[in-house]
Amino acid sequence: MAALGGRGRAVAALLRRAPGTAAAPGAGPRRHRHRHKEKWATTAPRIPSTRLALHHFDTSYGLHLGALWPSVRAALLCEQKYGALLNNFAAADHIPQELELLNATDFVSEASQKAQQWQRGAAVGEAATGCQEGSGESRTEMVTQAEMSPPLCTSSKIKCYTFPRGDITRFRPARPDALGLLDYYLMDAASLLPVLALSVQPDDFVLDLCAAPGGKTLALLQTGFCGHLAANDVSVSRTKRLYHILHSYVPKEVRDTVSVTSYDGRDWDQVKGGTFHKVLVDVPCTTDRHSAMEEENNIFHKRRTKERQMLPMLQLQLLMAGILAARPGGAVVYSTCSLSPLQNECVVERALDVAGAQFNISVHVEDLSHFRTLFQDTFSFFSDCRLGELVLPHLTANFGPMYFCKLRRL
Ligand SMILES: C[S@@+](CC[C@H](N)C(=O)[O-])C[C@H]1O[C@@H](n2cnc3c(N)ncnc32)[C@H](O)[C@@H]1O
Repeated sequence: MAALGGRGRAVAALLRRAPGTAAAPGAGPRRHRHRHKEKWATTAPRIPSTRLALHHFDTSYGLHLGALWPSVRAALLCEQKYGALLNNFAAADHIPQELELLNATDFVSEASQKAQQWQRGAAVGEAATGCQEGSGESRTEMVTQAEMSPPLCTSSKIKCYTFPRGDITRFRPARPDALGLLDYYLMDAASLLPVLALSVQPDDFVLDLCAAPGGKTLALLQTGFCGHLAANDVSVSRTKRLYHILHSYVPKEVRDTVSVTSYDGRDWDQVKGGTFHKVLVDVPCTTDRHSAMEEENNIFHKRRTKERQMLPMLQLQLLMAGILAARPGGAVVYSTCSLSPLQNECVVERALDVAGAQFNISVHVEDLSHFRTLFQDTFSFFSDCRLGELVLPHLTANFGPMYFCKLRRL
């Protein structure tokens, strides 16, 4: 990868002044006296990273989510729910029936049906109001709903089964078909929402800037619409996991349409700027569910304080790279699996400013509030998000957190 060129350097310089990214205080090892041993230890007794994470969440999310936080917290600490993303490339025609017998349903086609009903309702409403006086609010609502439905229908080749609210049945592990392709991929079903929001159209050139381990890359391929898919991730080891998923789920002729790279996504503009119809920027974040539950690889570990504090800056740089990678008129979806407004709305707001001020690029935030209505049976949404949509973990629908926001480069 070439060193950061003129435009890249300008982004870096500008972004250095981003808010909410204060440098970590000097973090050399402290000496603490252990009373019972009467010796000097080089480290303080270690507080588990999960506890540090929860303490941090209690302080910040208690304020942000208010009365909702205790129930979100309880859900974060309980077993999460999965969805089974059907593999359209496998010989797995019997799977829908097998899953429906267990009482699971495909929440994507359910939402598509809802959207089509709205469309029909709006058409009938329009015909009726052609002869009568406009009937006010309900008609406006139907038309608005009809306008929002097409993006979802185009992705309807994606099928993802979930068990109903309150049902915590687990899916069996995936099984291979006669050619060795696995029948479904188990993932947090809320992770599909950013992919659905991207609304891939036939022959679109799609970039997945932070792609590994590859759940969303696989979902993008399931649309059957990617003319070309560039899947990038800076981590070589995680890129290996992406290759593994592609080999386990995707036949060779489709794999050949995917280019996997390991660039630093912040420099993507140096490779292929302004060429993609759709860009997914699923950034590294505080992975709140993981941080609250797992010690291993926990970003709240004391030694990762600086890395954690720098996350909003990295996220902003990646989102800017995603915006620059999109062609004019192209769409970018930014997503995280954190509840943090500093990593969500604030990053988007800052990116809009930087795009305008530094690059003279107008970026418009698309309204995705219809997702709340379409998917309300499956997910719990936060109703007060300033920009974008946020799925809140809930004990009866324990998916997420998942934040997603759709931007259009004008
Ligand atoms: C939330 S994960 C992506 C998950 C993935 N989209 C999926 O659905 O499986 C964030 C990814 O960003 C990658 N990453 C971190 N810094 C990056 C950078 N500067 N450029 C590109 N990728 C980066 C990490 O290696 C990590 O795999």
